Amino acid sequence: MRMNLSLDQFLSLSEAEQLPYIGRQGVLYASQFDRHTLDHLCRVAEAARVMHQTPAGAQQMSELLRHRMALNFFIQPSSRTFMSFNTAQAFLGLSRMSVRDAKISSMSKGESLVDSVRTFISYVDLVVMRHPDENAAATAFWTSTQAHRRVHLPDGDHVPVPIVSGGSGTKHHPTQALLDVYTLQKSLGTIDGRTLMLVGDLGRGRTVRSLAQLMRNYSNVTLLFAAPEKYQMLPDITAQLDAAGVDWHVLPSLESGIDAADAVYMTRIQDEWDGGNGGEHVRADPAFAFRPDHLDRMKPNACLMHPLPKRDEIDPALDYIDDERIVYWRQERNGMWMRVALLAWLFRVESALLVDAPTLQRG
Ligand code: NCD
Repeated sequence: MRMNLSLDQFLSLSEAEQLPYIGRQGVLYASQFDRHTLDHLCRVAEAARVMHQTPAGAQQMSELLRHRMALNFFIQPSSRTFMSFNTAQAFLGLSRMSVRDAKISSMSKGESLVDSVRTFISYVDLVVMRHPDENAAATAFWTSTQAHRRVHLPDGDHVPVPIVSGGSGTKHHPTQALLDVYTLQKSLGTIDGRTLMLVGDLGRGRTVRSLAQLMRNYSNVTLLFAAPEKYQMLPDITAQLDAAGVDWHVLPSLESGIDAADAVYMTRIQDEWDGGNGGEHVRADPAFAFRPDHLDRMKPNACLMHPLPKRDEIDPALDYIDDERIVYWRQERNGMWMRVALLAWLFRVESALLVDAPTLQRG
């Protein structure tokens, strides 16, 4: 839909009301993705992984977006999201720049986000951004629609420079949710009918919020929310789950869901939002921490996930146990392939990755 709204009008719309304006021209929310697109992106990610295994395939992939330039604008800490986007861009042949510290950009001279983004998109064809303000990506998206610059796509369409959220405040982390879906599908074979236990800081965890939103696309999924009361999933997400008929339950401990869960998704306490704790990190409540004996009680085909970084919510001994069900390091690498798929999809070149596409491999 053509943007005919002021920034304030656009930001005052609900997430659902913003979706028609966003279409396929950016990635701001997990709620943008329907089942068909999720399945498609998982296939493309799997195809990219296999294609890159041969020098000829890697070469072919690196031609796809060779004429494009990306900016990775990450002014909040990031290791995996930043590195996996960089690697995905390199695989697709994009040139890349990064801004990782607002203090060394003109923002420190008082430039507004709107003006900064307007500048960025004069030079680049894609902005991936992580920002503490939950509205920053939507602001950047709106800015991009207002600029004259358009990116010409292979099908003849012209679109504003795409903006991709790599994490927006405490609310949204759509690309993490996509890689989580890809990991779940690879680990469990299917997501339909499965039970997922989300553990830790669900109130401020943008990963689990976005993942819960995506679960509305699958049939008969049960979500178990295991968190101390003050870190419980917030009503905006549970209302969306209710509207979509997703079954969800609050649990008093990790222990109480371990036998039922097909996937256990751990998260750390997001204490950076607590305003500084004198360098000390908030410790995980032991009732919501994963111990080696929990692994013994997990279903034989279940999986243990974590968006990482992890702290004491997972006993470090787990890293020395060789068990197929511990998938968080593979999850990290899945992120790179999903980001290849997502960027190829945004620039509408993903069919080139789907030649001889394999079926999804377990593991
Ligand atoms: C997460 C984030 O930044 O929200 N990290 C990530 O992107 N893998 C989770 C976290 O920081 O706890």
